[in-house]
Amino acid sequence: MVMGRFKHFIAELLCGLALILLVHAQDQSDFVSLDCGFPENSSYTEWKTGVGYISDAGFIDSGINRQISTEFKGDLQQQLWSLRSFPEGIRNCYRIKIMQGTKYLIRATFFYGNYDGESKLPEFDVHLGANMWGTIKITNVSISFVKELIHVPSLNYIQLCLVNTQRGTPFISAIELRPLPNSTYVTTDGSLERLWRVDVGSESNIQYRCKFDVYDRMWWPFNFREWTGLSSSLTIESPSSNPYRPPSVVMSTAATPINDSAPLEFHLEPEDVTAKHYIYMHFAEVVKLKANQSRSFNVILNGKHWYGPYVPKYLWTTTLYSKDALNSTGGQYFFSLVKTENSTLPPIINAIEAYSVKNLLQSETDQEDVGAITKIKSTYGVKRNWQGDPCAPQTYSWEGLNCSYDGYNAPRVISLNLSSSGLTGKISADISNLVMLQCLDLSNNSLTGLVPDFLSQLQYLTVLNLERNQLSGSIPTELLERSKNGSLLLSVCS
Ligand SMILES: *[C@@H]1O[C@H](CO)[C@@H](O)[C@H](O)[C@H]1NC(C)=O
Ligand SMILES: *[C@@H]1O[C@H](CO)[C@@H](O)[C@H](O)[C@H]1NC(C)=O
Ligand SMILES: *[C@@H]1O[C@H](CO)[C@@H](O)[C@H](O)[C@H]1NC(C)=O
Ligand SMILES: *[C@@H]1O[C@H](CO)[C@@H](O)[C@H](O)[C@H]1NC(C)=O
Ligand SMILES: *[C@@H]1O[C@H](CO)[C@@H](O)[C@H](O)[C@H]1NC(C)=O
Ligand SMILES: *[C@@H]1O[C@H](CO)[C@@H](O)[C@H](O)[C@H]1NC(C)=O
Ligand SMILES: *[C@@H]1O[C@H](CO)[C@@H](O)[C@H](O)[C@H]1NC(C)=O
Ligand SMILES: *[C@@H]1O[C@H](CO)[C@@H](O)[C@H](O)[C@H]1NC(C)=O
Ligand SMILES: *[C@@H]1O[C@H](CO)[C@@H](O)[C@H](O)[C@H]1NC(C)=O
Ligand SMILES: *[C@@H]1O[C@H](CO)[C@@H](O)[C@H](O)[C@H]1NC(C)=O
Ligand SMILES: *[C@@H]1O[C@H](CO)[C@@H](O)[C@H](O)[C@H]1NC(C)=O
Repeated sequence: MVMGRFKHFIAELLCGLALILLVHAQDQSDFVSLDCGFPENSSYTEWKTGVGYISDAGFIDSGINRQISTEFKGDLQQQLWSLRSFPEGIRNCYRIKIMQGTKYLIRATFFYGNYDGESKLPEFDVHLGANMWGTIKITNVSISFVKELIHVPSLNYIQLCLVNTQRGTPFISAIELRPLPNSTYVTTDGSLERLWRVDVGSESNIQYRCKFDVYDRMWWPFNFREWTGLSSSLTIESPSSNPYRPPSVVMSTAATPINDSAPLEFHLEPEDVTAKHYIYMHFAEVVKLKANQSRSFNVILNGKHWYGPYVPKYLWTTTLYSKDALNSTGGQYFFSLVKTENSTLPPIINAIEAYSVKNLLQSETDQEDVGAITKIKSTYGVKRNWQGDPCAPQTYSWEGLNCSYDGYNAPRVISLNLSSSGLTGKISADISNLVMLQCLDLSNNSLTGLVPDFLSQLQYLTVLNLERNQLSGSIPTELLERSKNGSLLLSVCS
């Protein structure tokens, strides 16, 4: 029996509506909604969703603002009208402050809309900090590609980077962050990439999100030819004990097999057969049953009993999910909802979510090093490719620095080469905060002032090149001693 392992929420009616309104108001203020390519310092409220968007300009310092071709605007939500494109640079990154330790739904949306008039559909990569998130392949000029991840960021900011992989110019239309309660979408390892979030039996064929969904999840309408729809015009309660809170409008429609003695079947055929998966099934009875009617069914996964017998509650949302990743058969998941012998009615289902586990294992560069190198960047106005995480992923590390990677600890900056970089002013004290530095090359710049004492705090330094600057005064004694006894190579780097 799997009873104990699968959480089964039994609804309790506790001033449901008041609670929904409260949570809604609270969540909106924690939403981060960036309309990419929208004019700097401007904002608006999207009229369909009621979500307030702001310009992305304060979160990135590269890329250019573009507009989609007017013929595609139609009834699109406004945040897709403009976009930011990145014709220059290999990796361009947003840096967005968030609440550390909070679980977020992170959504990136891409709508090409022939903004460049070239009708060429690009393909590029998206990174989240030090990790590859995925490849965006735009396959249709007038469809929005929506990538979503449920993730708990480890730092108090996230970096979302667009990476040019030589298959067209990267761009992005919108970035949205939505906090979720800790108790939702819990996994034993990793973050969750959305595969499906479907409103089964939808009659309107509308995609619902905010204002209907308190967490602003998107629900895509879904019907299947073997199924027929059922619906209710009444409100479906999400009890306070069920933190998933699928919207009433989504739960008020359901599907049932056309052949009322057949099981209700669906399957998940993931591209990556080695990935782990989670599923969330949302149920509510939408038909007022007569005294002589009953609806009960078992949930079968890959031929094995998974849950049940289960009786959906009238106008009451129950979410069925497992605490551990699903067991697959050859990477496939066949679900079958089979009515019990006693049931007079066939099974139903109202909404389904499916996710694959995404492990973002590469850690970001040590935060002290990030702080120091970021200040050095701003002090000297270094441009180059200095965006995103300095050391990771290794392939995209900043030009002019090298890092140590042991695969376990955060990468550290171990060498910095800013020779011939047009540096002016004094040698920045922030350099002494790169405490693991072994090699420092500042040669052939226009640096002035003294050779500072703080360079002797860099205890691992073995190479220091300050040639061809306008530095004055003498070399600090400790550096000289280290150079004399052979532990420091002054002036020339290997
Ligand atoms: C945006 O606001 C900032 C801070 O108030 C200001 O410095 C900047 O000039 C503004 N940019 C534009 C384009 O108005
Ligand atoms: C969620 O859990 C994390 C880690 O357990 C904790 O740091 C954080 O405060 C929790 N957030 C909320 C809103 O409970
Ligand atoms: C692109 O999407 C639109 C809208 O769904 C559809 O009508 C059109 O056929 C699609 N074009 C291609 C090339 O698939
Ligand atoms: C209906 O489903 C039952 C059970 O799966 C099957 O035996 C029967 O042939 C189906 N009827 C039709 C018309 O498909
Ligand atoms: C159930 O009761 C209704 C009347 O309330 C009746 O019309 C129907 O035939 C009954 N169905 C069965 C299967 O007994
Ligand atoms: C997967 O299968 C194992 C062995 O049958 C079982 O112990 C475990 O509970 C299953 N996990 C889920 C999520 O069904
Ligand atoms: C089905 O009905 C029979 C007779 O009323 C009862 O004994 C049995 O427990 C029921 N089974 C289920 C699964 O409800
Ligand atoms: C980083 O390492 C590479 C390969 O070993 C080397 O060619 C390059 O000069 C180093 N860069 C710095 C800044 O030390
Ligand atoms: C020194 O820097 C200048 C430009 O700042 C450059 O033209 C020159 O080639 C550099 N010399 C050496 C030896 O690298
Ligand atoms: C060289 O001199 C420095 C400073 O006096 C000292 O810290 C270091 O241990 C010495 N190294 C060797 C190899 O003698
Ligand atoms: C620093 O870079 C310059 C050219 O970019 C190179 O000539 C020099 O050897 C590098 N220094 C080190 C320590 O690798």
